[in-house]
Amino acid sequence: MFRDGRVGVIARRCWTIPACFVNPGHRFATFRCAGRRSASVRAVTAIPRSFRAYIAEKVDDRVERGVRSLAASDLPPGEVEIRVEWSSVNYKDGLATRADGKVARISPLIPGIDLAGKVVSSADPALAVGATVLAHGYDLGVARHGGYSEFQRVPAGWVVPLDASLDPREAMAIGTAGFTAAMSVIALEDRGLRPGDGPVLVTGASGGVGSTAVAILAQRGHEVWAATGKPDEEARLRTLGATGVLSRDDVTASGKPLESERWAGAVDAVGAATLPYVLRTLRTGAAVASSGNASGPKLETTVFPFILRGVALLGMDSAQMAIERRRAIWARLADDLRPRGTGDAVTDVDLDTLDGALDAIVAGAARGRWVVRVSD
Ligand SMILES: NC(=O)c1ccc[n+]([C@@H]2O[C@H](COP(=O)([O-])OP(=O)(O)OC[C@H]3O[C@@H](n4cnc5c(N)ncnc54)[C@H](OP(=O)(O)O)[C@@H]3O)[C@@H](O)[C@H]2O)c1
Repeated sequence: MFRDGRVGVIARRCWTIPACFVNPGHRFATFRCAGRRSASVRAVTAIPRSFRAYIAEKVDDRVERGVRSLAASDLPPGEVEIRVEWSSVNYKDGLATRADGKVARISPLIPGIDLAGKVVSSADPALAVGATVLAHGYDLGVARHGGYSEFQRVPAGWVVPLDASLDPREAMAIGTAGFTAAMSVIALEDRGLRPGDGPVLVTGASGGVGSTAVAILAQRGHEVWAATGKPDEEARLRTLGATGVLSRDDVTASGKPLESERWAGAVDAVGAATLPYVLRTLRTGAAVASSGNASGPKLETTVFPFILRGVALLGMDSAQMAIERRRAIWARLADDLRPRGTGDAVTDVDLDTLDGALDAIVAGAARGRWVVRVSD
């Protein structure tokens, strides 16, 4: 087994066409590999001759986006073939479809960093045909084709069997963003945060990570304060369980290296503009779970929060998490970490109406989550 959980043999390079699809990077028009196939490319496929996928392709200095018709041989190798029913729109998906996004590592790319659906063919006895599963992270939708495709092939070691209480749409309404929120709450609680310790701040609260974090923390009895740039989201955030709401200005203003100790913990997916504020207002010994850069990647802070208050900056990376831990967190997302009340702010799109959501999420216009109906 590889470090990222994949099982099997690494795809061998096709020496006939050095950049063939067994190694991504080729245009779809030239995907048919005339050379030796990888040992892990399936000889038999349950994927139909033709299916639809949403493609982002770099052309000069722009990215062309749209739905195209593909064949099974256009997909990467993998032990499990999935009929994708639902995917979702995450901030990273928006970036993966922009020329300046610095996320896509192949072109053309089927974006979609998460997917859920049914197994249609499997070389792994633990993942039976007909099982409802999901996959997210690793290279999906970034360096390897992702969820915006009616069919996808993935390594068995990337697959999470879905708890019977979650259907694929609900799972994708949680999606990578909700998974990251859960991971953040677990990290804070593992470090000692308990309900009753004091207010916990969630920034970017109207977005995917933020709104799910508000819901999970509130359900677990924490006193949640939500920071948002959208004043009209206040009522929804209070319904999700926020005790108080701050404006984006409150959490982006410049200040002294250390300010009054306010927060017992924090979940931040916004980065540049807010993380310095969070660090200088955390209470002694408190921590922030940092997962995102929705307002930019730069972090300008001093060391004082760390050396004078012992605060901790906990890095969250959902993409490279080992599969056993990923499966365990999904089991909890179906159970004690299941976000409730977030369903009201889930908007459905499909492959033909995806463009607007991809643009809106990068513009900071997210209100909850978009789910993508990929196939019926
Ligand atoms: N590390 C990981 O594993 C991981 C996993 C998932 C996501 N992420 C990252 O976490 C961040 C949020 O992801 P998401 O899917 O939750 O995105 P999202 O739904 O777009 O939420 C981001 C929210 O951040 C707030 N925001 C503040 N300043 C912003 C600005 N200048 N531009 C855009 N948004 C701004 C907005 O909320 P308000 O208006 O309410 O302030 C926005 O809705 C992204 O950077 C994403 O790449 C990381």
